[in-house]
Formats: sequence, structure tokens, C-alpha cells
Amino acid sequence: MMQKAYLHWNFFCLFCEMLFVLLVFVLWYGFINHSSGVFPGYFNMDSVTQTFQHRMSVKLWPPSQSTRLMLVERMSKNFITPSFISRKYGLLNKEEAEEGAKKIEEMAFAAANQHHEKEPDGDGSSAVQIYAKESSRLMLEVLKRGPKTQEDEEVKTVDEASAAVANLFDISGGRREFISGEEAEELLKPLKEPGNLYTRICFSNRSFGLDAARVAEPILLSIKGQLTEVDLSDCVAGRPESEALEVMGIFSSALEGCKLRYLNLSNNALGEKGVRAFGMLLKTQSILEELYLINDGISEEAARAVCELIPSTEKLKVLQFHNNMTGDEGAAAIAEMLKQSNLLEDFRCSSTRVGLEGGVALAEALGSCSHLRKLDLRDNMFGVEAGIALSKSLFAFADLTEVYLSYLNLEDEGAEALANALKESAPSLEVLDMAGNDITAKGASSLAACIVAKQFLTKLNLAENELKDEGAILIAKAIEAGHGQLNEVDLSTNAIRRAGARLLAQAVMHKPGFKSLNINGNYISDEGIDEVKDIFKSLPDVLGKLDENDPEGEDLDEDAREEDEDAEDEDELESKLKGLEIKHEE
Ligand SMILES: *[C@@H]1O[C@H](CO)[C@@H](O)[C@H](O)[C@H]1NC(C)=O
Ligand SMILES: *[C@@H]1O[C@H](CO)[C@@H](O)[C@H](O)[C@H]1NC(C)=O
Ligand SMILES: *[C@@H]1O[C@H](CO)[C@@H](O)[C@H](O)[C@H]1NC(C)=O
Repeated sequence: MMQKAYLHWNFFCLFCEMLFVLLVFVLWYGFINHSSGVFPGYFNMDSVTQTFQHRMSVKLWPPSQSTRLMLVERMSKNFITPSFISRKYGLLNKEEAEEGAKKIEEMAFAAANQHHEKEPDGDGSSAVQIYAKESSRLMLEVLKRGPKTQEDEEVKTVDEASAAVANLFDISGGRREFISGEEAEELLKPLKEPGNLYTRICFSNRSFGLDAARVAEPILLSIKGQLTEVDLSDCVAGRPESEALEVMGIFSSALEGCKLRYLNLSNNALGEKGVRAFGMLLKTQSILEELYLINDGISEEAARAVCELIPSTEKLKVLQFHNNMTGDEGAAAIAEMLKQSNLLEDFRCSSTRVGLEGGVALAEALGSCSHLRKLDLRDNMFGVEAGIALSKSLFAFADLTEVYLSYLNLEDEGAEALANALKESAPSLEVLDMAGNDITAKGASSLAACIVAKQFLTKLNLAENELKDEGAILIAKAIEAGHGQLNEVDLSTNAIRRAGARLLAQAVMHKPGFKSLNINGNYISDEGIDEVKDIFKSLPDVLGKLDENDPEGEDLDEDAREEDEDAEDEDELESKLKGLEIKHEE
């Protein structure tokens, strides 16, 4: 009995799925013929759905995972099968087709599902209609764009292009200038179309005054329920402060209560007043995944206001500050936010004038962000102690792939602590940046040991330290074996001489796909430069400029005697080096 009912149920589901697929195919056919203008008027879409809608009481939405996969396959076949469209625009390759189809299906599914949740109908056929319409629209878009040409390849992927046409309303591309009320009226028209599917809006790069903001206000109010991503960066440029604040206030109250996953308020010179002008919006954001506050004059008070206004950062994955967080108190507020953001993957707090105390606060708070993949703390005044504090949190970062710790006054001690911690964690580290930290050959040995363990490294930046030949040789030895993905090494301005330069060149020379070695601003002799150039004879673009190299360069922290004994020093190093090489070869 049970089994029989179960079988019936199974057949019924299968029937629904088949119906779903059939309906989608029929609609695709109709939409594509209709919009490509080949057989205009051939199909009446509404009657097709109505037939299904009225005759049967089945549940068509949502489709099962396997049905969705089947449709992805179907779409991807459409892309690689010759047709009247591909004859005109060219055939896609298999990879492009698969990637594009997957993306399209996801976007169409999201749009339809959103509609279904907002206005559920009995059988879900209107969701199916949106699903088919969105997917066919995007398929045509991809087909018409045709296969990627060599130039496209670098600029655009199928992903980006199809993502750009779907659901995004973007006015940032135009001229960066004031817009009037009338212009706003014209520009924002598509957002007023009933049933539009825009879920992401970008008002960036246009300066809104009061007129334009008042035009935008009712429009934003009417669509805020469907918005998931809002970019209001750089939207009041050149406006007097009082007007700018009022405009931000209008946007903020119009958008109050929307449930965003992405919010970009960068480049608005916010300060505390600005942050508070966005208060109504910020106060209702509890599922934000990405928040950008770059170049916003985030002062101590402004940082506190951000922290105080946003009710929950539990879902936050990306949090980015850059420029003027003015110091330690601000960092303390951000640290409080970090403690509530356990899912954080990408944290940037660069050039924000954070000193020792703030650095320690941030470092300790980051300890609870074990999902961190990308950490950018460049250009702050941390110092040794904050570096050591950070090293204690770094142990927790198993997924870390990029770490930017340049210009933090780390010195040898801080750099060593961090290198030792990184050595034990972050097995897939790709980018290591510790430029400008006064690291000497002493610190270089910990760094070298860490680098040896990081076989996925693509980019290593140790510019503007004091590594000298001794340190440079340690680093060269560390990257020499393995490190097949390494493609960028910067050891410029490190008082490196001939021997160090040559060894670095030899260490990277044979890496497949290596792109750039920068050893400018060092003390390499003319002979040394010739040698290095000779090593890169067949790859001249890979070797960076050497025009700021100073063969007469002095080691400032050592005695004047050094100057006379340069040649001797070099010889001594050469012989040390030979020893190293011999050992290496054995
Ligand atoms: C902003 O406008 C400028 C000037 O018209 C343009 O060059 C730039 O690409 C725009 N920026 C963005 C992010 O769209
Ligand atoms: C946020 O806005 C700024 C300024 O317009 C822009 O440069 C940046 O790319 C945006 N960030 C993201 C992740 O979209
Ligand atoms: C950052 O601070 C400096 C000096 O306090 C100021 O000149 C600059 O305009 C500020 N930048 C921003 C983006 O607020």
C-alpha cells in the first residue's frame, strides 16, 4: 500500500518535471523565434502557459535539481550546435558554452524564484514563464555576442557579460557629472517599468543633487523590496556638504528596510555626518555580505557610527575600509564589528592610520574570523607588537590566499613572528606582501622558511626592505625549487648587489609563465646588470627596469670602510655562494 502510494507520487513528480521541461522548451522556442525576429508572431506565449495553467492542477515550481542540470546541458548544446544565429555570429566553444549555460540557468532560476516567493500562484506557471523568458533572453544575448575573440578573452568572460545584462541597472558608465531632475527622470525610467527584474542598482559616478534625488526617491521606494545590491558610491561629488547630506538622507530613507547583500558607499567623503545620513538604510541591514566604505573619510567617530548603526554583521563576507580611519579608536570600533563577523572572508583596512593599540585590537578581533581568505592591512603604523599580535591570529587562517602586510613598521621581529605563523597556516597562500617593513637578512631566514612551504605562491613582494645580498640569496634559494605558479617577484630597493641579483634572476628564470622580476633601486654593478640582462635575453619583458639602480650605493647603516671593501665583499659573497650552489647540487 505504502509502496504503491509512493510509486504514484513518484510518477506524479516525474510527470510534473516533464511538464516543466516541456513548457520551458515551448516557451524558449517561442521567445527565441519571437525576439530573433525569424518567425515573428508564430507563437502566442500567453495561450501556451494558459493551456497548462487551466487544464491541470499540478505544481510546476520549483524544478528539481536534476531537471535544472538537464536544462543547463540543453542550453549548452544550443550554444555549440550550428543554427541560424550561430551562422551569423559564430559558434561558441564547449567550455564557454558550459560556463555560460550554468550562469544563465542560475540567474533565470533566481529571478523566477524571487517572483514566485513574492507572488506565489497555484501551480507556479508564472515562475516557469519568467524562468524561460529570462533564460532565453540571456541565451540570445550570449549567442549574439558570439565566441570570445582573442581581445575579448582578456577583458570579458561569458560570466561577466551575462551577469552584466541580467538584473543590473547601472548608470555609472556615462559622463561623470551633475545630473538634473529631468535627466534623472529620463535615466531612471527603466526602473519604473512595472515588473522589471532589476535586483542590483548602481548610481555611482553621477553626482545627484536635491532635484535628482527627489526624482529617484519614489522610484527607489517602489523597487526596494526587490533590491539585493546597491552601489551608491561616488554619488554626490562636488555638491556642497549640506546638499550632499540631504541627498544621502533621501536615498537612505527611501531604501530603509531593504534587505541587501551588497552595499557600496565608497568615495563619498562621508565622515561621521555622512555615515549618520545613511543611518536609516544602515540600521535595517542585517544580512549584508559585502560592505565597502573606501575613501569615505572614516574617522574615529564615523567608524563608531558604522559599528553602532548596522544591527548585525553575522553574514558579512567582505568588509573594506581604505583611507583615514584616523587611528586607534576607530580601529577599536571596527574590531568590535569584526568580532561579530565570523564569516568574514575579505577584510581590508589599509591606509587608515592605525597605530599599535588599534593594530593589536584588530589583530585580536581577527582571531575569530577563521574563514579569512584575503587580508589587507597595508600602510598603517602597527609596529612590532601589533605584528606579533597578528601572528597569533594568523594561525587560525587555514583558507588564507592573499595577505598584504606592507608598510606596517614590522621590522625583523614582527616579520619573523608573522612568517613563522604563516609557515604553519595558510597552506594555499598565493600572495605574500611584506614590502617596506625594514626587514633585514636576519628576518629573511624566517621568511625564506615560510616561502619554501608556500608552493602555491604566485606573487611575492618584499620591496623596500633591507635584505641586502645575504637576504636576497636566502629568498632566491627559497623560491628556486618548485613554486611553479610564481609569476611576480619584487625585491626592488633592498641594497642588493650583483650576487643577489644574479641568484634571484636564475631562481625565477625557468618558471613557466613568469611575468615580472623587479630588482630596480638596488646596488647592482654594471657587470651585474649585464649578467642579469643576459639571463633574461630571451624574455626581455619579464625583467623590470634597472634605471634607478645605483652601483655606487652605500649601506647606510654600516661603516664607511664598506665602501672601499665593496669589491672584496662581493668576492666573499661569491665564494659563499659557490658553496651554497655546490651543496644544492649534491
Ligand atoms: C566615470 O566617469 C568617467 C568620466 O566620464 C569615466 O571615464 C569612468 O569610466 C566612469 N567610471 C565608472 C566606474 O563607470
Ligand atoms: C565600490 O565603489 C568604488 C567607487 O565607485 C569602486 O571603485 C569599487 O570598485 C566598488 N567596489 C565593488 C566591489 O564593486
Ligand atoms: C584624510 O586626512 C587628511 C589629513 O587629515 C586630509 O587632508 C584628507 O582630505 C583626508 N582624506 C579623506 C578621504 O577624507
